[in-house]
Amino acid sequence: MGLDITKIRQEFPILDNNTLVYLDSAATAQKPKIVLDAMNSYYCTSNANVHRGMHSLAEKATIAYEEARKAAAAFIGAAPQEIVFTRGCTESINLIAKSWGSANLRNNDVVALSLLEHHSNIVPWQQLSSEVKWIGIDDAGHVNMEGLDAILKEGNVKLISITGLSNVLGTMTPLQEIIQKAHNAGALVSVDAAQLIVHKKIDVKELDCDFFSFSGHKLYGPTGIGVLYAKQELLEAMPPFLGGGSMIGEVTTEGFTCADIPQKFEAGTPPITEAVGLCAAIDWLSQFDWTDIAKHEQALMTYAIEQLKSIEGLHLLSQLPIGCLSFTIPGIHPHDLTDMIGQKNICLRAGHHCTMPLHKHLGISASTRMSFAIYNTKDDIDRCIVAMNDAINTLTL
Ligand code: ALA
Repeated sequence: MGLDITKIRQEFPILDNNTLVYLDSAATAQKPKIVLDAMNSYYCTSNANVHRGMHSLAEKATIAYEEARKAAAAFIGAAPQEIVFTRGCTESINLIAKSWGSANLRNNDVVALSLLEHHSNIVPWQQLSSEVKWIGIDDAGHVNMEGLDAILKEGNVKLISITGLSNVLGTMTPLQEIIQKAHNAGALVSVDAAQLIVHKKIDVKELDCDFFSFSGHKLYGPTGIGVLYAKQELLEAMPPFLGGGSMIGEVTTEGFTCADIPQKFEAGTPPITEAVGLCAAIDWLSQFDWTDIAKHEQALMTYAIEQLKSIEGLHLLSQLPIGCLSFTIPGIHPHDLTDMIGQKNICLRAGHHCTMPLHKHLGISASTRMSFAIYNTKDDIDRCIVAMNDAINTLTL
């Protein structure tokens, strides 16, 4: 049936007066009013701590929190007990590294990462004593599968931790193929879905990944909440990440026992209101057809590439991107360009985008990124290109 973008835009208070051109949704997406209302209503009517109160508010809060878990699970085809709420995708990956990694990786074990990775899927692995090996990429920004085969052949690979969609190049990784190869070689796969989650329908069981992480705030939900999916048997065997209230069975002067999953991994007061917001965001997004979303975003991408190519010397860092594209312009520093157009309320992102190894591989220190969401229009792109041309003229005077 297609998307009614005018109507969708009206649901986002921040886009209300039409002065904002927001092309930075890969950093964080804007939020529809229904998400803000759900969080506000939760605070106004149901606020209490979860899992430990005996009063009716605590019961309401616990129900809302657990409903959010069910919604997150259903959204990616998982079972509720396989969903751990964290503070974000970064914390989810850290949880895997600190819990599963510390318990399972020894010095000569290998964790394979691709050059596309965000620092949040690099540093937690570098903090362990196991070895990190790098899967290269080709000139179009796609993972080099022969490189992956060679690393697997060398042996000792215990885990491949890989993004589903690059936050710079917008290239997708062939997850199904990677997972199959990894499993054949006895390795597990952790997917960083921070970018992928908002652009593609995912079923973790169909994918057969072992771990899968994403954040709420890139999914039109609030900041401060992330999701970690892990296969039940993995979660059950993993030691807790953080210690404290709620994650225990019993505490004595001698020690403690753990709660069942997923509570074992949710020490302290969890992000309850944020879970309510995430649940509303998932409900909101689920009304749309994924094919319509992909069609809309691809049309924007094709149009943006066409327009950007009219800028002299502009170099696109990848081919056939999804969700975001990045570029450089000779003689123009990405920070200067982004800062100048930012003053006109036009939002792009500039820098290394938390992917220093990728930028080093590309022989650059920074790039400019344009990213798309369901609420963007061709008019956003037109206004951005006009502003970019003005800024380039000023910067090259
Ligand atoms: N990881 C986010 C980005 O790529 C912040 O912009």
